[in-house]
Amino acid sequence: MSDLIYIADVIPPENKEEALSFYYSIFGNRNPITIEIGSGNGHFLVDRARECPGRNFIGTEILNGRAKRFHSKIEKRALENIVVFKGDARRFVWEFLFEQIVSEFIILFPDPWPKKRHHKHRLLKAAFINMLHYCLVQGGTVTLATDFPEYRELILEEFKKNGNFQCTRQDENSLYPDSYSKTLFQERFEKEGREIYFLKFRKKNFIR
Ligand SMILES: C[S@@+](CC[C@H](N)C(=O)[O-])C[C@H]1O[C@@H](n2cnc3c(N)ncnc32)[C@H](O)[C@@H]1O
Repeated sequence: MSDLIYIADVIPPENKEEALSFYYSIFGNRNPITIEIGSGNGHFLVDRARECPGRNFIGTEILNGRAKRFHSKIEKRALENIVVFKGDARRFVWEFLFEQIVSEFIILFPDPWPKKRHHKHRLLKAAFINMLHYCLVQGGTVTLATDFPEYRELILEEFKKNGNFQCTRQDENSLYPDSYSKTLFQERFEKEGREIYFLKFRKKNFIR
């Protein structure tokens, strides 16, 4: 399978078993899976994939030009542990993921939709957070960054309401080593002198 997969062109797996075979057919192994939502040009995830050959990485991006630039970075470096799914990440999460198959979600600078009438377009709402929880393995994590303080507060509130996550980081300016490329939006916001908020949540382990 190509490293650039068009979500609309693939018949999604019907159950967890099929999903595991699907990812095995892509990566040729069953290593832990990291998924990035809204990868842009893929700067960040490509660096992670180079540094962590023992993990598999899936980026998602809705815009064609960005997905293609992301894909050419993968090809140029001949990386075998990373692919990009072009299309709506929400569709990817709902249709291509199943219970406890993801070890990490990364969402860097999701569109904040600042106008009140556009709030309905925000990604990080109850149903989506619930779905992230369902797809994560026990102890799996969600890492987020935003430059928008009101969205940060809302995200903290929504994860708290969900009740199945522990917030492990909320006061950091960065969660990654300096050696990692900053994303385009992080660079842009830092140049503009905006504060950046990183957040990290861990799926709670329940003892039955
Ligand atoms: C503000 S940009 C951040 C991009 C990148 N994470 C960065 O930090 O440079 C948000 C990205 O999410 C993508 N995006 C927005 N909604 C999406 C969706 N439903 N599915 C996939 N990508 C989406 C946008 O096209 C854009 O590239």
